[in-house]
Amino acid sequence: MIRVLFVCLGNICRSPMAEAVFRDKVEKAGLADHFEIDSAGTGGWHVGETAHQGTLDILAQHGISHDGRSRQFTVDDLEKFDYVLVMDEQNLRDVQALARFRQTGAVIKKFLAFAPGIPEEDVPDPYYEGGFDRVYEMVDAAAGGLLDHIRETRDL
Ligand code: 4NP
Repeated sequence: MIRVLFVCLGNICRSPMAEAVFRDKVEKAGLADHFEIDSAGTGGWHVGETAHQGTLDILAQHGISHDGRSRQFTVDDLEKFDYVLVMDEQNLRDVQALARFRQTGAVIKKFLAFAPGIPEEDVPDPYYEGGFDRVYEMVDAAAGGLLDHIRETRDL
């Protein structure tokens, strides 16, 4: 089982989008049995809430449904997951700060490191500024690149 966790700040905009898009690609590849996929936020303000309407709308436009609820990232996630994909520099710092307190073999990386053709390093936060379309493009590219990478390195 390959365990993949997507992390952003609030776990209502970017990481639930990444979770849903990556899961969709995994299912379409017929690999759902090989993966456990989840998302979390470094902050706890939105715990228990559904994803932001902007995320749900853009997912629906691409034929993808999502019914997750926001939860906060915990230090235990570092033991449980094989890949922890963060959306921006601040997420990376927050996760790495917790990683000092727990032995972890998890690959902790910025999600866009896997996105071919996307020059940015960070997924911009659409919570205040919008831009869910561009965020979707980035997430879609990175999800495809991540799945290719995992298939190559894990012989799937
Ligand atoms: P996300 O967006 O990290 O992509 O889920 C945000 C959602 C909520 C807040 C910030 C970013 N907030 O400050 O409440």
